[in-house]
Amino acid sequence: MGGAPPAARRPRPPPAAPDLWGLFIEDLNDALDGGLNAELIRNGDFEFNEADRDGWNALTGWEVVGEVEVRRADPVHGNNAHHLRAVGPAVLVNEGWDPIRVAAGERLRLACFARAQGEAARIEAEIGDGLARAGFTVAPGDWQRVEVDLAAAADGRGALRLAAPEGTVVDLDCVSLRPLGADGQPLTFRQDLLAALQELRPSFIRFPGGCLAHGLGLENMYHWKRTIGPRHEREQIRNLWGYHQSRQIGYLEYFELCLATGATPIPIVAAGVCCQNTPGGGKPIPEPDMAEYLQDVLDLVEFANGGTDTAWGAKRAALGHPEPFGLRYLGIGNEDEITDAFRDRYARIEDAVRAAHPEVMVIGTTGPQPFGPDYEAGWAYARERGTPMVDEHGYQVPRWFHQNIDRYEAYDPAGAKVYIGEYAARSSTVRSALAEAAYMIGLERRPEVVRLASYAPLLARVGHTQWVPDLIYFNGDEVLPSASYHVQRMFGAERGERVHAVELEGVQGEPVGLPDAGTVMLRSDHATVAFTGLVLDGNPLPDAVTASGGEGVLLGGIDPRDAELEFSAVRRDGEEGFTVRLGPEAPQSFLEVHIGGWQNKSTTVTRSDDGIGECDHGPIPWPGVRTGEPVRMRIRLEGPRVRVWVDGELRHDYEQDLRPEQRVVAGALSREGGEYVVRVVNATAAARTAEVVLPGAPGPVRADLRLLAGASDPDVGRPFEASPVTPVDSHLKGDSGFDLELPPWSFATAVVRPVG
Ligand code: AHR
Repeated sequence: MGGAPPAARRPRPPPAAPDLWGLFIEDLNDALDGGLNAELIRNGDFEFNEADRDGWNALTGWEVVGEVEVRRADPVHGNNAHHLRAVGPAVLVNEGWDPIRVAAGERLRLACFARAQGEAARIEAEIGDGLARAGFTVAPGDWQRVEVDLAAAADGRGALRLAAPEGTVVDLDCVSLRPLGADGQPLTFRQDLLAALQELRPSFIRFPGGCLAHGLGLENMYHWKRTIGPRHEREQIRNLWGYHQSRQIGYLEYFELCLATGATPIPIVAAGVCCQNTPGGGKPIPEPDMAEYLQDVLDLVEFANGGTDTAWGAKRAALGHPEPFGLRYLGIGNEDEITDAFRDRYARIEDAVRAAHPEVMVIGTTGPQPFGPDYEAGWAYARERGTPMVDEHGYQVPRWFHQNIDRYEAYDPAGAKVYIGEYAARSSTVRSALAEAAYMIGLERRPEVVRLASYAPLLARVGHTQWVPDLIYFNGDEVLPSASYHVQRMFGAERGERVHAVELEGVQGEPVGLPDAGTVMLRSDHATVAFTGLVLDGNPLPDAVTASGGEGVLLGGIDPRDAELEFSAVRRDGEEGFTVRLGPEAPQSFLEVHIGGWQNKSTTVTRSDDGIGECDHGPIPWPGVRTGEPVRMRIRLEGPRVRVWVDGELRHDYEQDLRPEQRVVAGALSREGGEYVVRVVNATAAARTAEVVLPGAPGPVRADLRLLAGASDPDVGRPFEASPVTPVDSHLKGDSGFDLELPPWSFATAVVRPVG
């Protein structure tokens, strides 16, 4: 790292984006129920059902012995339609997500709604084999809320067992078991996960998604008003990730989480259209319901910010929070397709929010990828409307992040600001974590454009994941932070007030080339497809081939810099279409052309690097492969240029990105008192020494160093495990700078202070 011009000639460095680092929370991977929600009973409301997941029902999660009946008559609340009737002698057993774990001395509150039929009934409760015991009496009559506290006699694990004695008939619902906090009240949040989030020092928290915000189908859309108030009255719905949303962490708890972490909320409301991946496409809220929906969005802002003299501010106060929650941003939509229906609904919501709440920054949406048709359309629409900020998403391979560190230099600072609402370098390895760190330095040094960023997804319960990688894995016992978590924590913990330019001397970009040899393979994952008329590099291949069951059929060798393939494909049976893979298997660096992927709705070219595949071009909407109807294909690779014709139509024509990767990256911020925060990533296999020279020759300095290093190779680090490397703190001294030793595959943040 080089020096800087004398202070008098330097322009004043721009202010850093104050809210830059935040969190994305979506109920995905059991992040909430079974995760951050401190509730230990799974399906305590008996509301799991077949729509959540095949085979699920009101008794999922429970084992019953004796005569037990699931009933709907006279429920606790219309939104909690099912309850259980136990005719004694009967035993109900619930293991939670894994056997419930208790620690000696821990106190827990068991609560439920109950009513006895006939005589009063005494229910005995026990956790595990005598780990904790208590009993409670249920009186006849109406539903009563019953609570009893238990104290664990020893460390251990086990199920909750509720026993109704012979001769009793008891109705039960909303069974809950929560550890008690220091105030003697049941906890809302699992404490070790909460602590892990607090350590990230988030400036904001996005909620409820992600896809969950707009839902698969209009009936699945997230409506905030249905998630507040007494837990047993909240609307529970199917989770589009294949499970159940109890909404026990609803909007109030979300705002409480923001308070507990010091974050400002960023709610994402549906743009009045459900997810485009809904069978039949993204449907708009029907016109007669739109006025109510618009009002709901405005009421959300009032619920968060309104004085207690407003209707929703008063509601917030009645729920225990007279002080406002300080909402400053509101996202509208998530990765939506920019259709006419979207435009219509989105425009009305944005206009209404901006008119009623000019103090709230509205955030628009630009598709699931940081390029491609949705991205272009989303940006064009935001420009047309003058939307003040847009949400970009980027799940890409590590190489992409290293190539795109300067991405936002090309963005117009006078245009919409950017929230990178979801990003991840696609694996739990150190390689990915360092690629994210390098990219984050790039985000930090462009505050004129990039204002907010949140890694996604945040939480994943081991054995209950629908999406990998995730920032924090956990099981019933432990929090298992990934290497990416440590990177996020290092950024969140040390911020600066002004962004300084860094001159990096002696560092070259890593060249990116095209492989010089590879193979071509045909595959179909969900269908049987026959391929005929095969011509590879001008040579007709003698045999037709058939692919099915995801097994690749090798056609032969190619030069990936100069290759041409033609064929016809006919689907014989099954769903979706087929894939053509071009390039070397090892080290994995190949292209895949997907015809009729993603619900048979598009064509896409993906590339795989470092063992991770991601979209390179597309997806481009397409009517899809049909059984018995031939598709004529032509694929041409010519240097970096990729062209794909389908039935004579040129659908993909682009150049592969061969810009060098920036693997050694540095950034610097300053703050009050002449302090600097210096960050350096060394994502190479070589140890390096960075000679850090501070501007203005401040004299003797001390640096508090946090170093994430020690990976034996960059690909250590796996999903569902804690990172093999953790940051280590040390101190350095120097005069107007210091030497920073950077081991291979490392990331350092140094806080530098003048001494004396
Ligand atoms: O983070 C997981 C999912 O990825 C989000 O729900 C969605 O917005 C994105 O496609």
